[in-house]
Amino acid sequence: MTSPKVASLTGTNSLPNKTAATPKRVLLIFGTRPEAIKLCPLVGTLRNISFNVHLEPVVCVTGQHREMLDQVLEIFGVRPDFDLAIMQQGQTLPELTARLLQALPPVLEKVQPSLTIVQGDTTTTLCGALAAFYAGIPVAHVEAGLRTFNFRSPFPEEMNRVLATRLTTLHFAATSGAADHLLREGVPPASIQVTGNTGIDAVLAVRDRLEAGTHSGLTVPLDPARKLIVVTAHRRESFGHGFEKICRAIAQLADRADVQIVWPVHRNPNVLKPVDALLRGHPNITLIDPLEYLPFVDLMRRAYLIITDSGGVQEEAPSLGKPVLVLRDTTERPEAVAAGTVRLVGTDPAKIVAESLYLLDNPAEYRRMSEVHNPYGDGQACGRITQAIASHLSIPLP
Ligand code: UD1
Ligand code: UDP
Repeated sequence: MTSPKVASLTGTNSLPNKTAATPKRVLLIFGTRPEAIKLCPLVGTLRNISFNVHLEPVVCVTGQHREMLDQVLEIFGVRPDFDLAIMQQGQTLPELTARLLQALPPVLEKVQPSLTIVQGDTTTTLCGALAAFYAGIPVAHVEAGLRTFNFRSPFPEEMNRVLATRLTTLHFAATSGAADHLLREGVPPASIQVTGNTGIDAVLAVRDRLEAGTHSGLTVPLDPARKLIVVTAHRRESFGHGFEKICRAIAQLADRADVQIVWPVHRNPNVLKPVDALLRGHPNITLIDPLEYLPFVDLMRRAYLIITDSGGVQEEAPSLGKPVLVLRDTTERPEAVAAGTVRLVGTDPAKIVAESLYLLDNPAEYRRMSEVHNPYGDGQACGRITQAIASHLSIPLP
């Protein structure tokens, strides 16, 4: 799908103007793949509840991502009320931020929500919260309180989430550790709720469907005789030299005959170009387009080991009992590291290769890291958030 060059406001005709008689509206604003995976289940819960005669969820996608966003909307059956189609190839952070801050106010003006919901730490998250604040509309932040305490890592996400906290009225923290960060920053305790991560609601629902025999649509040829290593990476702080080092490590691992490496490559040109140049054509490495959510969870289920810098994958893999090596020096998700399922390896090729070989050749250590853990949630986060929103808006519960 190609996106329009100029941001456009679509779907406005289908949404009636707000009147005193219409239900209270909550506006969900999201724009990238992980935000969609973590908010679409909440859209479903908000839409399904029997008190929705009093509450109307409205969805605005910014289109910060395009193909990678549309894949998720389709799987969860979410049809946005507004699509701002913001994405442009190779967009810079200032350009993206400026376009978002121009495009969001007319949506807020049209919808007149009682509450705006944003998720995570992307530029859409920050701009959604800021635009709502400028319009005088309270903000609920899903996955609040993650911190590395290093504004350069992850960049710009650590700054985005700190700023989002300052703009937020209702803070939904996935873990008690995240809630503690907020408390230490002076956020009023009554405005914080520990809910679990909505991404775990998503991955457990998909896992259950796959275990019940649903065909995922995964078409990558996998060799059952070899150990599958799944790789994903996209962090801005690794662009350039960091990606060269990651690729060198993956090429070295691929020289082993007993492994098969599958890497669904992020569409950011700063990722695509080096990965393509350095790894395309290696007989033991399959580079593929980003996968839809169902086949990607299926691929993770079949993996021996996952090597990634993704936040969402770090949360999902422990629920699937898969060891993860994280291609970063810091993580805002220490719970799985403490549980022993996730290990930080940075971008040094020697360290990435050594830690991978240790797990490939040491079955006892592998078994220990493969225990299933759910430090990020129990699959009920969306229900808790929905209840909290209803209570905040004084909407009667059934
Ligand atoms: C963004 C978020 C990051 C999040 C990541 C999840 C910011 C600054 N970054 O990073 O926090 O972890 O998404 O994946 O908010 N592109 C496409 N098609 C797509 C998506 C991206 O072609 O569906 C290409 C475009 O050229 C686009 C570029 O990738 O300009 C960068 O996209 P952008 O959203 O700015 O940054 P990400 O690296 O995707
Ligand atoms: N994911 C996906 N297809 C892929 C790779 C990842 O659906 O090819 C999912 C993954 O399961 C997780 C989310 O995308 O839920 C993570 O997105 P990403 O790594 O882009 O962003 P982050 O979580 O780091 O912000």
